[in-house]
Amino acid sequence: MKLPFSESYKIKMVEPIRRSTREQREQWIEDAKYNLFNLRSDQVFIDLLTDSGTGAMSQMQWSEMMLGDESYAGASSYFKIKNAIREITGFEYFLPTHQGRAAENVLFSTILKENDIVPGNSHFDTTKGHIEFRKAHAIDCTIDEAFITTLDHPFKGDVDLNKLENVLKAHPASQIPVIIITITCNSSGGQPVSMKNLREVKKMADQYGITVFFDSARFAENAYFIKIREEGYRDKSIREIVREMFSYADGMTMSSKKDAIVNMGGFIGFNSKELFDRATMYNILFEGYISYGGMSGRDMNALAQGLYEGTDFDYLETRIKQVAYLGGLLKDYGIPIQFPFGGHAIFVDAKRFLPHLPKEEYVAQTLAIELYIEGGVRGVEIGTLLADRDPGTGLNRYPDLELMRLAIPRRVYTNNHMDYIAAALINVFDRRDKITKGFKIVKEAPILRHFTVELEKA
Ligand code: F0G
Repeated sequence: MKLPFSESYKIKMVEPIRRSTREQREQWIEDAKYNLFNLRSDQVFIDLLTDSGTGAMSQMQWSEMMLGDESYAGASSYFKIKNAIREITGFEYFLPTHQGRAAENVLFSTILKENDIVPGNSHFDTTKGHIEFRKAHAIDCTIDEAFITTLDHPFKGDVDLNKLENVLKAHPASQIPVIIITITCNSSGGQPVSMKNLREVKKMADQYGITVFFDSARFAENAYFIKIREEGYRDKSIREIVREMFSYADGMTMSSKKDAIVNMGGFIGFNSKELFDRATMYNILFEGYISYGGMSGRDMNALAQGLYEGTDFDYLETRIKQVAYLGGLLKDYGIPIQFPFGGHAIFVDAKRFLPHLPKEEYVAQTLAIELYIEGGVRGVEIGTLLADRDPGTGLNRYPDLELMRLAIPRRVYTNNHMDYIAAALINVFDRRDKITKGFKIVKEAPILRHFTVELEKA
């Protein structure tokens, strides 16, 4: 008998989670103004709100925490993280930050001005938020295939080179401080970018004299997909692939809460000493001195260790196969999900799940609320609420994809939990015709409104 696949770790410490009744959940979500971010964590049974900062650290990471050096300057923890970043990504210069958006804040404070253009592949919401907050524009050049959820394309995070070139031709280089490539591309469904595409984007950027940065939160998952799906990479190690990927960038921003498997942390990597020097001022201003930038020494130690573990093939295989296990259960039942399965999450196509609901009633949010009520499973809307209003017209932006994301924390849940999640969603699917009303907004913030929005039944 062929031995089945199984996890590359065992469990040493457990955290209890609590079941609840449907009646309790109906009350709790009403009290939370139908915003899943407002729920208390003990009102949630399985939490798929995000894979960010929710992973389980290893025994080696916890051991590293004890060795943290809390010196203000010159701490050994600083050198540990510096060495890990250099070894894994190849970037010579780096600045620590407290999380990914802080890295974006420092980078964009350094290089972005009003009316600038930042092309890329479906910028993540904080990236877009930072760009638009500075009255600059994010232009999405993702390939069209990414927006057809039924299409099985291996690299739906790829940049459409024609779209990119049109943007580069239409504006002077002085107006395009950077191209941001998000690996994997969260907004298009945790979809990877191929090595070929990264190489070609860099080549084009060089022709036009434009800097390329990778938004690298899930760079290791991206490398795994390159190894599995792209010709010529099957025999290369994840670390070799990662080094080649980053050789096509001038720098990176990192939310370490994802692929470095820590609960908090981030950094910026640079090739250019000159850019590093300019960014240093903002890092000190916003984050802290350059040898800790918002992280304690113990956090930096855990992060350095996490970078090694996160780029280990066995770990990545366990992780991505678990996401695919959930995807397979949903696919087999005919639930409309994004294909192929993403690296960190399964994305449910809410427009096809609830085709009878009008788009003005926040279809993916409605689905996420129903899933919570059904089984205490908390997913997240990646749709109209997240897309915010157009800063120019003030009207709702209706994105091509209206998704409910089920993000799987790293090394946290078992496949029994995946079975439970699938059953809860299948129950909602079976009664989808009875879900005839969505929601309307009662209160919202002008930017990143999904975190605090208040809703009522439409
Ligand atoms: N870039 C990407 C691709 C992300 O997915 C995130 C965060 C960030 C940047 C910002 O990093 O949270 O450390 O400030 N994504 C989380 C998510 C919030 O749920 O996908 P951060």
